Amino acid sequence: MTRHDIHCRYFSQEDLLGAGCLDVRMAMDAAEKGMLAFEAGNVLFPDKIVQIFNDETQERINCLPATFVDRKICGVKWVSVFPPNPVKHGIQNLSAVIILSEIEHGFPIAFMEGTLCSNIRVGSMGGLAAKHLARPDSEVIGFIGAGEQAKMHLIAMKTAVPALKVCRIAAKLDSEEDEFVRQMSAIIPEMEFVKSGTNLARGVDGADIIVTATSAQAPLLKAQWVKPGAFYSHIGGWEDEYAVAKSCDKIVCDDWETVKHRTQTLSRMYKDGELTDDDVHANLVEILVGSKAGRESEDERIYFNAVGLAYVDVAIAIAMFERATETGLGQDLQIQHEMIFEHALLKDWVRL
Ligand SMILES: NC(=O)c1ccc[n+]([C@@H]2O[C@H](COP(=O)([O-])OP(=O)(O)OC[C@H]3O[C@@H](n4cnc5c(N)ncnc54)[C@H](O)[C@@H]3O)[C@@H](O)[C@H]2O)c1
Repeated sequence: MTRHDIHCRYFSQEDLLGAGCLDVRMAMDAAEKGMLAFEAGNVLFPDKIVQIFNDETQERINCLPATFVDRKICGVKWVSVFPPNPVKHGIQNLSAVIILSEIEHGFPIAFMEGTLCSNIRVGSMGGLAAKHLARPDSEVIGFIGAGEQAKMHLIAMKTAVPALKVCRIAAKLDSEEDEFVRQMSAIIPEMEFVKSGTNLARGVDGADIIVTATSAQAPLLKAQWVKPGAFYSHIGGWEDEYAVAKSCDKIVCDDWETVKHRTQTLSRMYKDGELTDDDVHANLVEILVGSKAGRESEDERIYFNAVGLAYVDVAIAIAMFERATETGLGQDLQIQHEMIFEHALLKDWVRL
């Protein structure tokens, strides 16, 4: 090792899983602490950089940095979103990598697979919201959409609301419902799974917790299926009719200012003049710190929408990095051994 060695830890998805990083409790804790650090002014959070390669399909790669000044760690999520991937190529839509650097010398400390972290972030934000906004005696959860986000959300919801006993599922294809049940029943064997046969009403009508996590752009969820006392977590784009939000007693977002400029149902309603700032009850962090009320009665219908705050991804990535490092998994990744002009062989390598 020389004085100018730079190296970091590399963690594959399998390293992270093997180290026990698919731990929604750990992620919810990291997300909550991250949000509190942001509120305290301890997070640098510049705008994301978006590069769209196809306006029609929205195939894109985004670069999302954030720094936890108090933890002295800067991170970036480099995330690809290629919506046609599942249908066109049978491969996943979203894939990501994360780099973490220390900010004393500015050197990288970790290069890690990021899809796991990103998906756990979506789930754990839903889980945190459910902890405060769902009825703790909720027993039935209903899904529209059976993809990657739906699966992670089920783990998160079961962690946040342990009383859940029955999971109903509605997707576009029977085969997706079959796969969801096959994979998730292995992870949560005590849960009773009910396939809807692609009948959306059968999937969610009257459920205590409803989750929509689809790639559709259509008002799939109907207000009449959302019973009094239900908690609804909206994950995708336009997935519910406007009447759903209108019939809810509280609307809570991860960050309303961010949500309202995007493209999902609440943003559409805002742009169409169907929803105003006053209709939004709170950002999640206000409920965490107690400055706004969470659930106040058994009959409230509560709507939650998170579009994703990348500093939360970085907060969770730091927690995963620490856990994976403790377990000794991952590999050393040599970035450089010497500074450029220190290499004895440089004269042979340089091309003039
Ligand atoms: N809010 C966030 O922070 C966040 C983060 C990542 C992804 N997302 C969004 O979550 C959504 C789901 O992502 P994913 O990775 O799970 O996608 P995926 O492709 O794995 O799954 C999509 C699911 O949508 C279902 N679907 C599509 N059209 C449908 C219809 N008409 N009726 C019923 N079901 C239908 C499909 O059957 C499939 O089960 C996407 O819109 C994605 O952009 C949100």
